[in-house]
Amino acid sequence: MSRTDAGTRLRVLDSIRAAGPAGAGGESIARSLGVSRVAVSKHVAALRDLGYVIEAAPATGYLLVSAPDLALPWEVEARVSHPLWAVFEGGVETGSTNDDARALARAGVPEGTVVVAARQTGGRGRLGRTWTSPPGGAYVSVILRPAVPPAQIAPLALVVALGIAEGLEASGVHAGLKWPNDLRSGDGKLAGVLLEMSAESDRIDWVVAGFGLNVVRTAKAGADAAFVRDFAPDLPVAAAAALALDGVAAAYGEWLGGGFLGLRSRYEARCVLTGRDVVARDAAGTVRARGRVTGIDDEGRLLVMTEDGVREVSSGEITLRDAT
Ligand code: BTN
Repeated sequence: MSRTDAGTRLRVLDSIRAAGPAGAGGESIARSLGVSRVAVSKHVAALRDLGYVIEAAPATGYLLVSAPDLALPWEVEARVSHPLWAVFEGGVETGSTNDDARALARAGVPEGTVVVAARQTGGRGRLGRTWTSPPGGAYVSVILRPAVPPAQIAPLALVVALGIAEGLEASGVHAGLKWPNDLRSGDGKLAGVLLEMSAESDRIDWVVAGFGLNVVRTAKAGADAAFVRDFAPDLPVAAAAALALDGVAAAYGEWLGGGFLGLRSRYEARCVLTGRDVVARDAAGTVRARGRVTGIDDEGRLLVMTEDGVREVSSGEITLRDAT
């Protein structure tokens, strides 16, 4: 489908949605969009294939009965309120929204571009892991171009995770944070964040911050997963994604304005590791610290009290000591 076709399809959907219970006549949609009546009915058929329930009656015309409960880019865009998120890309399915966003970033799209998909066939997690991405989750990647020196970028992953957690709070989902960038709820993982970037020695070109949010519980879900719907049963998937995006934009703005310092106490308040005995390993699996977590410092490093004193852990993977 060409970009123009996709755009027309969305305008057809908007016209039907805007008409509400009064319904929108095919002829009048065709006239207002400057397309043929046949084109309108083809777009309606395609929207039905996507899961939109659209009734058609001679008296009222097209009537939107329900929209699919999926993280489709235009459904997320319609619910986002923060002005940072100005351009939405993506679709029903892609390989990886992070891969798409990286390509867009390299092509020069502006900060605030968002890629959303309702499912991914090649979702990627941290440390080379796979991120299983069935429908019912939200798969979102945003392009950021922060004007900060590369040496100061480390806390951004924490900022994004905190933003998602704070955004979701509005729906009654209380998410904890497992340093550096996992969202937890109860014993399960609610979301994960994958940050990728391109920088020169003194300047960041782009950052792609991708997050996968578990919203609807699937039959195959492992015991270690948590789902937004377990806590907010009526929240549409697209609305969960939009809340998360608005939270990320707010936290990102605060970080740009004043660094991690102003966010630190809020991150610490949600940090599920504080007071726990942990093992910190680097990306190669080498143990870097063993001890009790005492907090997070101003640069977003995890503070671990070891036998040899406090260690500042700046990256890697944390496991709880009683779980190793
Ligand atoms: C992790 O916890 O390991 C991070 C998972 C990040 C997954 C998201 S889903 C959207 C974006 N696209 C990807 O391929 N990965 C990230």
